[in-house]
Amino acid sequence: MVRYVLVILVFLVTACKQGTTPAIATKEDTPLSVSPTYREAFRPQFHFSPPEKWMNDPNGLVFYKDTYHLFYQYFPEDIVWGPMHWGHATSMDMIHWNHKPIALYPDENGFIFSGSAVVDSQNTSGFGSKENPPMVAIYTYHLMEGEKAGRNDFQTQGIAYSLDEGATWEKFEGNPIIGNEDIKDFRDPKVFWHEASSSWILILVAGDHAKIYRSEDLKSWSLRSEFGKEKGAHGGVWECPDLFKLKVEETGEEKWVLLVSINPGAPNGGSGTQYFIGDFDGESFTTDQEFPLWVEYGRDNYAGVTYNNAPNGERLFIGWMSNWNYAQKTPTQVWRSAMTLPRNISLHQNEEGYFLKNYPIAAFNTILEKAEIPSSINLSEEFSWETETLMQTDLRFQVDISKAFTLYIGNDSEKIRLGFHPETQELLFDRSASGLTDFEESFGKEVQKQWYAPSETPVEVRVIVDQSSVEIFIDKGRYVFTNQVFPTKPYRKLILSGAPQTLSQVQLHYVKSIWNE
Ligand code: FRU
Repeated sequence: MVRYVLVILVFLVTACKQGTTPAIATKEDTPLSVSPTYREAFRPQFHFSPPEKWMNDPNGLVFYKDTYHLFYQYFPEDIVWGPMHWGHATSMDMIHWNHKPIALYPDENGFIFSGSAVVDSQNTSGFGSKENPPMVAIYTYHLMEGEKAGRNDFQTQGIAYSLDEGATWEKFEGNPIIGNEDIKDFRDPKVFWHEASSSWILILVAGDHAKIYRSEDLKSWSLRSEFGKEKGAHGGVWECPDLFKLKVEETGEEKWVLLVSINPGAPNGGSGTQYFIGDFDGESFTTDQEFPLWVEYGRDNYAGVTYNNAPNGERLFIGWMSNWNYAQKTPTQVWRSAMTLPRNISLHQNEEGYFLKNYPIAAFNTILEKAEIPSSINLSEEFSWETETLMQTDLRFQVDISKAFTLYIGNDSEKIRLGFHPETQELLFDRSASGLTDFEESFGKEVQKQWYAPSETPVEVRVIVDQSSVEIFIDKGRYVFTNQVFPTKPYRKLILSGAPQTLSQVQLHYVKSIWNE
């Protein structure tokens, strides 16, 4: 509690010290109207959510001096989308977060849309020094006046830098650094240092494709290539790209991964993130892959991107746990929306090709407390188990997926269902009776489906429930379903059933709150 009060005080005091001149009303003139307790109905207890008000995409994910920075799309005045700022939080382990003052405010060039951050350790930009390298944020400006006037050139790219580890920021006086030549959707720059060409690479999206730029100093950029007009999914606008190298776990081969979020057009409706596996030579990204692969099949993992400079070569991913179909209507009051659990991305290959897995980072295990449950469960009859609440739990077991199998988690009247259907090789996830669903038509509608490959050995199913979300990881993150749920009473029953088999290595953990210890 003491820690919490301190955090709020620091937040308020520092929010009053912002150096930049806001073009619109901001935290400086709108103090926190509600004192957040992180105990409100539906408040995630171990996922990141802002103290109050509206949040969407993760931005500027960068690791610097033992600290993980998380910036995010933030509107500090309401719980619906509005003039975008970059909110800011930091963490030593990506599990426990400290709230920081707003990092970037809108200015005369527009709202601050999504983007990335780098540590310019060689001081190529000249914003700092080699001894004190600048953190540089690269983001999209969205000029509302331009959009309202019916123009197409209202999105441009800008940069800002910090010489005090992200505490305060200065906008570059030469903004915008990339202007707009009449492209309506032109945004979400991801920048990273490309070792092989000793240069900065920037990838952004332009409606139905990605554009790749190169720079020596983060300030002047030249367009090198384009990707995607004829590849992948095109059911909606491309957003929030990411490009990074990974080793195939089975062979050690190095490949490049391109993530591209798309809205609408996801396999199970609305917003989702496709990916491509290919090669990048410092100029162009190329791939033989014609069809999109998907980071996941649930409805609530969007605009996810990965950390720059993560330690030990890890590829660490965070997504926004919502969907534009209903993001602004979910039944929370003080704040709206949360991030997914941080996940490790790994690259794999089998006879059918390359694919990614994403799975919660190991540090998540530090907030788990073992609960008593049988370690093996024979499904010759239905297994039913009850406890006071399952709203903060992590359940794992091994299951033979060649056999029909169903999992329910719920209370007396509400439930979620996960089903394995070997006859059609489909995985089904159903939240139609999960609790409040009628705030928007598509939320509870239609079962979410995904085809799955047979496996001769049992695979792990892991289900992580946190107040208003369910994250399901099958086969260590090969198939993932992330979904929000809004039960009116705590889920407290677990029911497992299906064709006879014995589930092994069953483990249940309660998950501690990161906000209310
Ligand atoms: C994705 C997105 C981005 C944009 C931001 C605006 O959710 O639409 O393309 O930069 O949100 O908040």
